[in-house]
Amino acid sequence: MLTVHDFETAARAKLDPVHADFIAGGARDEITVRANEAAFGRLQLLPRVLRGSAVRELDIALLGSRASMPILLSPTAFHKLVDPEGELATARAAAAAGAIMIVSMASTVAVGDIADAVRAMGADAQLWFQLYIQPDREITETLIRRATDAGCSALVVTVDSPVLGAGERNRRNGFHDLPPGLRCENLVDLRDGERGHVRQIAMSPELNWQHIDWLRRTTSLPIVLKGVLHPEDARLAVRHGVDGLLLSNHGGRQLDTVPATLELLPEFVAAVAGRIPVILDGGVRRGTDAVKALALGASAVGIGRPVMWALAEGGEDGVRRLLELLRDELDDTLALCGASRLADLTPELVRVPTWGPT
Ligand code: FNR
Repeated sequence: MLTVHDFETAARAKLDPVHADFIAGGARDEITVRANEAAFGRLQLLPRVLRGSAVRELDIALLGSRASMPILLSPTAFHKLVDPEGELATARAAAAAGAIMIVSMASTVAVGDIADAVRAMGADAQLWFQLYIQPDREITETLIRRATDAGCSALVVTVDSPVLGAGERNRRNGFHDLPPGLRCENLVDLRDGERGHVRQIAMSPELNWQHIDWLRRTTSLPIVLKGVLHPEDARLAVRHGVDGLLLSNHGGRQLDTVPATLELLPEFVAAVAGRIPVILDGGVRRGTDAVKALALGASAVGIGRPVMWALAEGGEDGVRRLLELLRDELDDTLALCGASRLADLTPELVRVPTWGPT
């Protein structure tokens, strides 16, 4: 396993092709899925020399959480689909690497159990919780309480999904739900007196900024909005008291043909103007990718599919090796760029090619 792509190849050899399609796929023609990765390939790095330092500092402080590297695990659903331990394995690996894990609301282990597993290792759980605001307020409040009681230190509210993205691979494969025996454990018994009742995650097409205002009043946890793309919405988010933004197109799984997140980053960062941190996900597969996003103003980057591939390939150990691999690549890229700390990554390190055929 020398690269993130090696994990994907190894995982595909093991997985049911229907499940591999669920992970790899995106909405409609998957134009945005491809655009995310391609955008990193088009940007160039222009390093500085003779600025050496024996060691590089990769640790970050983000919304009250500390992490050993600026690569976090974006929320992905259904980890038990690819590994029997599911999110327990992922969370242990993230904790061992000192990385922040955003637990999906659609996890197949309850967020409280995930947090317990990390604490049992004697590690400091750096868990954030991803939330889809539910049409029923009480249900949303119960979910927030579960995440808060588990010790999650931020809420990541996904706002790019008023309706479910059209994953045509899943439709073609007839993949609509978890197989028997697996369920979204955070959605079990959300009302008093229920026993074993599992609710479906509802998408809320009526969501608007007032829901964010309500959320702001409801929780004291930092709120990160995930799935904001328009710079005008970034400005609005700041005005509505949001603490951070995750610039994400859901890995191309929601609206197809939106730009690559990397392409949007400079304008987005300019709109936010340093008032709150910006995290980017979508297509990050290399240390050089992370460096490009950080140089253009992201405080951290997230990875989605690579985590699922690594979990499928080697369970907890696979995710550990993935995170170490990315950390090594990041460290190596910093050294080659003449940077000793993340603050040394500035826009001058990044170039768009200005000659030759386009
Ligand atoms: C996701 N993503 C996602 N996002 C979210 O807010 N809640 C979720 O439950 C999920 N589930 C999910 C499942 C799978 C299999 C994938 C691939 C993605 C989106 C995810 O958080 C992230 O935005 C993208 O995956 C980032 O792009 P890359 O790294 O996969 O290219």
